[in-house]
Amino acid sequence: MRRLFIALLGTSLLWGASSPAENGADGWLRYARITDAHAAAQYAGLPGRMVTLDESPVVRRAGDELAHGVEGMLGRELQNGTSLADGDAFVLGTVTEVEANFPRWKRPAGLRSEGFAIVPLKEHGHSYWLIAGADARGVLYGSFRLLEEIGEQRDLRSFAISESPSAPVRWVDQWDNLNGTIERGYAGQSIFFDNGSVRADMSRAGEYARLLASVGINGCAINNVNADLKMLTPEMIDQVSRIADAFRPWGVRMAMSVDLSSPKAVGGLDTFDPLDPRVIAWWKKAVDELYAKIPDFAGFVVKADSEGRAGPSQYGRTPVDAANVLARALKPHGGLLLYRAFVYNHHLDWNDPKADRARAAYDIFHPLDGKFDDNVIVQIKHGPIDFQVREPVSPLFAGLHKTNEAIELQITQEYTGQARHLVFLVPMWKTALDFDLRAENRHTPVKEIIEGKAFDRPLGGFAGVANVGLDVNWLSHPLAMANLYGFGRLAWDPDTSAQTIADDWTRLTFGNNVTVVSTIDRMLLSSWRTYEEYTGPLGLGTLTDILHSHYGPGIESAERNGWGQWIRADHNGVGMDRTVATGTGYIGQYPPEVSKMYESLTTCPDGLLLFMHHVAYTYKLHSGKTVIQHIYDAHYDGAAGAAKFVDDWQRLKGLVDEERYEKVLALQEYQAGHADEWRDAVNQWFYKMSGIADVQDRVGHDPNRVEAEDMQLEGYTQAEATPWETASGGKGIVCSGHNACTASTTINRTAGTYDIAVQYFDYRHGVSTYDLYLNGKLLKEWRADNTLPADKMNGDTSTRVTVHAVALKPGDVLKIEGHPDDGEPSPLDYVEISQSAAAH
Ligand code: GCU
Repeated sequence: MRRLFIALLGTSLLWGASSPAENGADGWLRYARITDAHAAAQYAGLPGRMVTLDESPVVRRAGDELAHGVEGMLGRELQNGTSLADGDAFVLGTVTEVEANFPRWKRPAGLRSEGFAIVPLKEHGHSYWLIAGADARGVLYGSFRLLEEIGEQRDLRSFAISESPSAPVRWVDQWDNLNGTIERGYAGQSIFFDNGSVRADMSRAGEYARLLASVGINGCAINNVNADLKMLTPEMIDQVSRIADAFRPWGVRMAMSVDLSSPKAVGGLDTFDPLDPRVIAWWKKAVDELYAKIPDFAGFVVKADSEGRAGPSQYGRTPVDAANVLARALKPHGGLLLYRAFVYNHHLDWNDPKADRARAAYDIFHPLDGKFDDNVIVQIKHGPIDFQVREPVSPLFAGLHKTNEAIELQITQEYTGQARHLVFLVPMWKTALDFDLRAENRHTPVKEIIEGKAFDRPLGGFAGVANVGLDVNWLSHPLAMANLYGFGRLAWDPDTSAQTIADDWTRLTFGNNVTVVSTIDRMLLSSWRTYEEYTGPLGLGTLTDILHSHYGPGIESAERNGWGQWIRADHNGVGMDRTVATGTGYIGQYPPEVSKMYESLTTCPDGLLLFMHHVAYTYKLHSGKTVIQHIYDAHYDGAAGAAKFVDDWQRLKGLVDEERYEKVLALQEYQAGHADEWRDAVNQWFYKMSGIADVQDRVGHDPNRVEAEDMQLEGYTQAEATPWETASGGKGIVCSGHNACTASTTINRTAGTYDIAVQYFDYRHGVSTYDLYLNGKLLKEWRADNTLPADKMNGDTSTRVTVHAVALKPGDVLKIEGHPDDGEPSPLDYVEISQSAAAH
């Protein structure tokens, strides 16, 4: 009794606050109480009872979820009924069960596997809400769908729908390692693994499956595509079966990535040649053992002959040889084999003008069309390179007519800001899905190819690299969950618009306030474009450090190595010549109409110009601007766009809960500072390379900026940034061998109110502290405690603090005192003093 009292007291204290703190753990499944009486009243007529016609775990979960959601949003407890005759009820069951109980009702024509119908029905004087699934998963998806309608406060008076998913494969991939790290994961450690084993606590795995199921995702590959050899050992299979158990009630089937060298590396054979009978027998036995433990196992994902992974090429075999061996072992159990088309040579010859990484997938897989077994799906990244901020779609989608295909999209933002920058990827994915490849000179958009419609394939679908982690809110940036949600929505129905997805997600995640919804929608929908502008416009790809972090600017890292992410910039021009006429011939891999469009400078869209062509900096775009001026302008526009996100978000103060408000605000301020770093790095680099001035005279001229190396230094010494363009003027200052150092400058600006921004470098390790003084009086102190992905002065670590609305007059002295910590020498780049917006 006493315990209960204490627990209740704790809850009421939490709920007593005006806007309860929210940590994002529930994602879009918050089921927040509808407090607006008018909105709530429209649901007064919904039944107070629920009858489940099916006892399967998935349908029971659907019932629990419906009850949970109705209670959360409407404050009503749904009674569990057993008899339909007792009165109004939600009725949950498969179409067969519903038809048996409601003979007047007929399943909708064309309802496919995992689809559902939601229909209100009056019978025997009672009102029923039928949630009829083509199967158990359909019932679950239908229940989530109805809850979503209520969450968005939609009018249900004439509501009746029937939906089926676009394609059977709607999976997420997690690149989790057994040691608990996640390759390209930006939100903490793995929810599945820790220290070589599966975690004891599977509660996050279950919660994850619930989020996935709510948007119709039905599979999850749990480990890194660079697969650990231990995955197929009996101990590990025992352990991962607990993950499958946690997924199962949510209709999510577990899949695994495997390494093709397993028969040799862990199986004790002296070969892994896929055509060796012992290897074939080994895979069959391994798969049979797996299914004995996990009867609903979904299948394997394979990365082979790629980035140093073993593969069939070692024995002169093809991806078909390898894929079919595994597929045949999986087939009797209903398992699938997803073979990734991300196969390429990362030791390309930079000096060979015909060498081109973008060609690889088509060159390798197109000749194999028609040879894969029918439970093989070739999993193709949406673009031919690697999740860059903009790429054309892979020509391979149109190059396989007799092979099942899935599109691989990346939810984790490897090349798009890594959970620190707001980038809503749905508009980018839509661009790829909607792109009409004109295969056979007819309408063949990518979405219809992977759905299996275009070439009449039985299988196909979507794989999204999600990489959620142990962070309470799953993806670290509170707005990044829109990408996971959006991926699920597009996999269910790729015709859904980006606007609809943004709008639905925002309402469910932050509530239905008009200002909140319109502001967040606008931020989401403009964010990809903004990021593209300040990172890599005109199809150059993300101009990041491709050799290490894939995060901050690092333009030249793309060139002169074997990785083939080249932009081929020299003093005269920039871009990869991929034409058939004079270049690598990549453009010729597209069907004729598309190839013709890209081949000609007249018809190639500006947005992909430098992906397809090498042109002079002075080349005029369709927009009328020169290439170089476009690069400069886009970077200023993009940085301004990122700064605007801060203003936009600030308008939501008091309209969203404080916890998420503060978290997003801090991230948007960080992004605005980092966007300036991107802008300056890319523009400085192209200015030096091209020697062509910005017509607006901004590049290289920052009258408001005082370089740290030009300040009066005590203890601090000048140091070069690597690469040079990542620090203003190529240099910064570091405090080495001292406990504290100072940098001072005397203000010579007219008296007024100014914002003072200090650009500094925050290494991954060490927590330097800084104090900013004005005429000896402390203005601001801060800790460099971010964990950015480098331990040196570069584009990853460059960041800023800003002190707003400071009154300054000529002769004032600004002093920064830095206190190094743990190898981080409290580095500084510059101070920027600009007219305060507050002063206008
Ligand atoms: C990218 C990424 C790697 C990943 C690879 C893949 O190259 O940086 O971490 O392993 O893609 O998709 O296989």
